[in-house]
Amino acid sequence: MKNFLSIKDLSKEEIYDILDFAKEIEKHPKPNILDGKIIGSLFFEPSTRTRMSFISAAYRVGAKVLGFDSPDASSIKKGESLRDTIKMVEVYTDAIVMRHSIEGAAKFAAEISRVPILNAGDGANEHPSQTLLDLYTIREQFGTLENLKIAFVGDMKYGRTVHSLAKALSDFGCEFYFVAPDIIQIPSHILQELDNKKISYKLISEYSDILNIIDIMYMTRIQKERFDNLEEFNQVSGIYKISKDKIVDKCKDDMIILHPLPRVDEISVDLDDTKYALYFKQAANGIPIRSALFAYALGVKKFDSYRSENNNKIISYKTSKCNNIMCVTNFEKTENKVVNTSYGNFCYYCGKEII
Ligand code: CP
Repeated sequence: MKNFLSIKDLSKEEIYDILDFAKEIEKHPKPNILDGKIIGSLFFEPSTRTRMSFISAAYRVGAKVLGFDSPDASSIKKGESLRDTIKMVEVYTDAIVMRHSIEGAAKFAAEISRVPILNAGDGANEHPSQTLLDLYTIREQFGTLENLKIAFVGDMKYGRTVHSLAKALSDFGCEFYFVAPDIIQIPSHILQELDNKKISYKLISEYSDILNIIDIMYMTRIQKERFDNLEEFNQVSGIYKISKDKIVDKCKDDMIILHPLPRVDEISVDLDDTKYALYFKQAANGIPIRSALFAYALGVKKFDSYRSENNNKIISYKTSKCNNIMCVTNFEKTENKVVNTSYGNFCYYCGKEII
């Protein structure tokens, strides 16, 4: 695996390979498999879990880590471009973990870098390593990833973890409920992918009617920092708040509550000690998953399975820029590449439809 930029970079079989290897690492730690390797950790956006668990994961398999946890601590502050930053960090490291507020930033970096890039979240676009730990947690609980009913609740528009997990679970016959007010409902390019795969989903604004049929309740924070209109944020802030009295005796006995965290006010602490609350365990699963990811990215571990063919054609338009103002093509000098599919043309970097 050269880079890990989107959950769609992995076939279903490759996902299983990574989950299995993470399980093996969890059971039988492998403290030396990345001896002599150096990981670059570049966080242009705030993070607690992703940054620290990637670092912890690297140490636990023998790698060393260097980098920064804020762009203010790098020469970006002096006006250096992302392109030049990556050109330098590739010299110092064997792989780069990168979080950025701009959508498609990781894909752009991967084109510049000769060392693997691992996307630790790119704006509102994707968060694929989070998806792997979500899948790991789900499989640990249910013994399968197949045919589950999942309700995503909260910020469907800006919640990158929702985008990546929905894409992943669409290959496992799951059914989706996207629970959100209209102004932060799931983007059309995600729904187009589900339509293309003939996946069953519903867009609703209340979860009470489906609470007794879902296996997973995936709560999310309303992402204040991504709204360009504070009035819109105020309309939806605090809209979904679950607590013991709203969940216990109303959901399936084995339903689980997941949340990528951080939470603000959407899950009451009175749920933390219930059997439904798996969000802290979910975050802890980031360590074996990210250790496993490093092993695949650095070639210490190879996939047992074959990569599925990606039939999308990429064509180049030199004149047009992506319409998404948060796309990397609007920040860095790059050609705009368009992925041509049977259901539309999409920006290669940020995944948004080109209209
Ligand atoms: N889940 C997650 O991405 O958390 P952080 O923002 O703390 O990394």
